[in-house]
Amino acid sequence: MVNLQKCAIIGCGQVGATTAFTLMKSGLFSELILIDLDPEKADGEAMDLNHCLPFLKPAQIRAGGYDDLADAALVIITAGANQKPDESRTDLVGRNVAIMRQIVPEIVSRNRECILLVVSNPVDILTQAVLKLSGFPAQRVIGSGTVLDTARLKYLLGRRLHVDSRNVHAFVIGEHGDSELAVWSSANISGVDIGDYCRVCCASESAKTLHPIFDEVKNSAYAIIEKKGATYYAISLAVLRICEAIIRDEESILTVSTHCQGHYGLDGLCIGLPCVVGREGVLQILDISLDGHERQGLERSAALLRELIRQQHL
Ligand code: NAD
Ligand code: LAC
Repeated sequence: MVNLQKCAIIGCGQVGATTAFTLMKSGLFSELILIDLDPEKADGEAMDLNHCLPFLKPAQIRAGGYDDLADAALVIITAGANQKPDESRTDLVGRNVAIMRQIVPEIVSRNRECILLVVSNPVDILTQAVLKLSGFPAQRVIGSGTVLDTARLKYLLGRRLHVDSRNVHAFVIGEHGDSELAVWSSANISGVDIGDYCRVCCASESAKTLHPIFDEVKNSAYAIIEKKGATYYAISLAVLRICEAIIRDEESILTVSTHCQGHYGLDGLCIGLPCVVGREGVLQILDISLDGHERQGLERSAALLRELIRQQHL
């Protein structure tokens, strides 16, 4: 039996450490295990985090080894190289697949019941790698997918339309990367079609004038990495949101990366799609309607991922 209060993070770099801080502040888990190739780094992060506890709810936070994973409900993988300013996420594929080949056997030899949440990039390919290497059921191997990109789209649309970004409902799907796409055909503001919303509340905008916002979404990571070297705050909250959906069995709809088995006519690859997420992981992939342009975009994104999967022998 896994302990729903216990989570492990593998990789304590900028994303892993920020995720640990965000999870600790949320109080979702009472036990956090930090693992890194560099044990001193994991230990230093654990020490720093522990000094927050007098301001927060009690929790056990410590650096550990793979033996400490035995009863963890969730294992979050943030280990691996990140992009340098002149790199794309897919440039990391060889290096980070090799790291998954080291990490996954260590996890599954101690724990076959947990949910594996992959964050390292390229996240869809690494989710596929972790699925294959673990032999876990597909529903328990989840990638952070386009949850972050969806948040970026909601934020930018909310800012442009002068509306709370929590009232913006629009999905980014496909590869978490250059081939991702926005599903404009179902975008809405609290149930009001986005074109209608523009007519009623924001006459200077139309569904068409909003479309270029998506380029900003797609290029956000490049812009941030150029300026400060890495992204980590928003992804840590995306990870918290996925963890909450799982641990609290929320049945929340999130655009995580999951293994397709015929959905949208796609088979045998992990890709970001709207899914119902709960205690057992991905409970259902939602086959939402896409217009012809979106369907082609998703097929192009899937084709790119399929080619990388083939090259990596996954
Ligand atoms: P980082 O370089 O700061 O940290 C990576 C950490 O991984 C280091 O501490 C390193 O020691 C550790 N590591 C490397 N190999 C390991 C192994 N075999 N076992 C355990 N630990 C190991 O990088 P970062 O900025 O934290 O980014 C981490 C990953 O997250 C990158 O691949 C990055 O592209 C990705 N990322 C994904 C998203 C997303 O939306 N999915 C968002 C931001 C970053
Ligand atoms: C992101 C990372 C780099 O911030 O994938 O989108």
